[in-house]
Amino acid sequence: MRERGTGLAIETSGLVKVFGKNRAVDGLDLAVPAGTVYGVLGPNGAGKTTAVRVLATLLRPDGGEARVFGHDVLREADAVRSRVSLTGQYASVDEDMTGMENLVLIGRLLGHKKPGARDRARQLLEAFGLTDAADRQVKNYSGGMRRRLDIAASILNTPDLLFLDEPTTGLDPRSRNQVWDIIRIVVAHGTTVLLTTQYLDEADRLAGRIAVVDHGKVIAEGTPGELKSSVGAGTVHVRLRDPGQRPDAERVLAKELDAQVYLEADPVALTVRVAGEGVEREAAEQAARALSELAASGIVVDDFSLGQPSLDEVFLALTGAPPREDGLADHPATSEETAA
Ligand SMILES: Nc1ncnc2c1ncn2[C@@H]1O[C@H](COP(=O)(O)OP(=O)(O)OP(=O)(O)O)[C@@H](O)[C@H]1O
Ligand SMILES: [Mg+2]
Repeated sequence: MRERGTGLAIETSGLVKVFGKNRAVDGLDLAVPAGTVYGVLGPNGAGKTTAVRVLATLLRPDGGEARVFGHDVLREADAVRSRVSLTGQYASVDEDMTGMENLVLIGRLLGHKKPGARDRARQLLEAFGLTDAADRQVKNYSGGMRRRLDIAASILNTPDLLFLDEPTTGLDPRSRNQVWDIIRIVVAHGTTVLLTTQYLDEADRLAGRIAVVDHGKVIAEGTPGELKSSVGAGTVHVRLRDPGQRPDAERVLAKELDAQVYLEADPVALTVRVAGEGVEREAAEQAARALSELAASGIVVDDFSLGQPSLDEVFLALTGAPPREDGLADHPATSEETAA
């Protein structure tokens, strides 16, 4: 655990940030335990970046309270700044410099002596799999390498709290995995990580707790297990060889999984939401039984998978509607009033 006793890295209560008529953060309540990865899950425009910028003291809140390690983000902004790091801000890497040069420069700016800065840079490049690219200009890095360098730069001075704002959006699966490994390393060294993401599976893999944010508010909070049990354990996707067997497959799946089967536009595809009480093993067992029952009924399956609920499914379960991108569209006044 960190040195501070209260155990909370971030605490917000009724936090508000408005842009004109747009309530980007609209009464946000968060309690982020220190020493953990905390996931903030929400669709485009939910207010994730705005909340992060307020917590990192880059934006002034318009209402409510926010504390970072007990320090008020407005009244004690310097104390907050000394303990946090945000990828993309302190970590603004220069495209024309090499990875090594960037890290050494940032290390020097943070007050390290040159040999120390070089050692730390070498260490981080190694840890993040960038040793071979150390002497290449950043403009020639792939998106995943660039993201890893950003994170490396932001933890040169191991911060107590690291904000990672959608660190894997747009990355391929391999790069996502590398970034996840890095996040695990960072948190193992005692840093608290606030991770915003649009992917439930990402929050599920990394975060001890997750807040689902919509329209600037927390609409659900809990451990990944708690969240998934309110949503369902996952979705079974099935593709058949023969579209003529779809009615039979529908019947078998409905019986085995005891759930409604959706016939997709693709005439060989079916999907089923598995309740499974959020217990993954149970869902996997049910899915396995369903698969063998399909085989026993002579139904030829080309593809079968059990996926975790998507963000769309989480929102469907929590709000009764898929996430809606807000952009700058005005909210009807009533939605703010009724929610208040
Ligand atoms: N500087 C700004 N000026 C005006 N409106 C803004 C500004 N920054 C954000 N907004 C608006 O505030 C709302 C929340 O935006 P924010 O960027 O915090 O969402 P987000 O959850 O980070 O979304 P994304 O997943 O797309 O990054 C959006 O409606 C956005 O258009
Ligand atoms: Mg954002």
